[in-house]
Amino acid sequence: MGIRFARCWRIAAVALAGLIVAGCATGRLDATKPVGPEAREIDGLMRLSGWMAVGVGIFVAAAVATIIVKFRAKPTDDPDDLPPQIHGNRKAELTWTLIPTAMLIFLTVYTLPTVFALAREGTGPTIKVEGQQWWWQFSYDLDEDGHYDIVTANDLVIPTGEEINLELHSNDVIHSFWIPQLNGKRDVVPGRIHDWRIRSDEPGIFYGECVEFCGLSHANMQMRTIALAPRDFERWVQEQLDGQAAAQAAPAEGSPEAAGAALFETHCISCHVVDGTYESAAGGNANLLAGIAPNLTNLMSRTAFAGALFETYRPDGSLNEAELREWVRNAPEMKPARADNQQGMLDFAEVLTDQDLDNLMAYLKTLGSPPVLP
Ligand code: CUA
Repeated sequence: MGIRFARCWRIAAVALAGLIVAGCATGRLDATKPVGPEAREIDGLMRLSGWMAVGVGIFVAAAVATIIVKFRAKPTDDPDDLPPQIHGNRKAELTWTLIPTAMLIFLTVYTLPTVFALAREGTGPTIKVEGQQWWWQFSYDLDEDGHYDIVTANDLVIPTGEEINLELHSNDVIHSFWIPQLNGKRDVVPGRIHDWRIRSDEPGIFYGECVEFCGLSHANMQMRTIALAPRDFERWVQEQLDGQAAAQAAPAEGSPEAAGAALFETHCISCHVVDGTYESAAGGNANLLAGIAPNLTNLMSRTAFAGALFETYRPDGSLNEAELREWVRNAPEMKPARADNQQGMLDFAEVLTDQDLDNLMAYLKTLGSPPVLP
């Protein structure tokens, strides 16, 4: 009795834990409301196979219930008397072989064209996507001259009504790129380039995540696609280019921004890039040097920072200064990264004074204009 009671409790505890975990979902990653054509195809297949499974489940449950009731042992039955055996019954065996076979063939016929359609190469403009521990970088070669004109992180900004080609690269380990409302998952493998496509015909923000375990902050390797109407997209492009030009102008001497820029050049520049801060290297083209950490040239134009773990702006549109400042002060506290002391942003808590942080924040606020939102 005691054992059975303990077991019930254990099962109840597991069920409760499951409910709590399910309740943690933010609802931002949503594969049930497809927007892109590929996501809609995948959703259709999921629903088809799901409803078939529901049908089979109901049939099996009903059959089991019927058999339990109809063929249960009666008090008058002789306990040594076995029911009629149907081993080798051709009709029964053909039935339970042919029906599942027919169902699987049906599913295959529906699935294969989708599998091939998803693997086809896209026709639209290409954006280079780089996954690394633990954030995503997006590079745009607008005039297709082999030079990346815009390099950004976390926010993948695309125009609506156009198929966008993604060229997926990994700079370290295997990641997986997934924006559920726009397309399925695609592995991002070091040494290989995988093509993927996304398309949205409506403006919006579509959230995504890395879905291949890639180390300590795998769960914190998020990104979002911001689909903008073509005119807004053009505005975003122009503002990015303007931001690059503006970042090259030195802040007024003696200002907090200038003090911040000097601190940036002392502490941040070995990982982060801002256009104009590398005059002597790469012909002043910071994008050639970006890679270890996000290019911050247009930091303020991004909706999120730290692998899209934190919002750059509060719901009322004001800068999320408290978290950004805390991130600059002691990043490992906010996003675990340095178990082996080899990865991620450093802890500057012992290095930067409050005054330094004020100055750095003043400088960071000059980098780029506010985001263009759908
Ligand atoms: Cu990158 Cu998980």
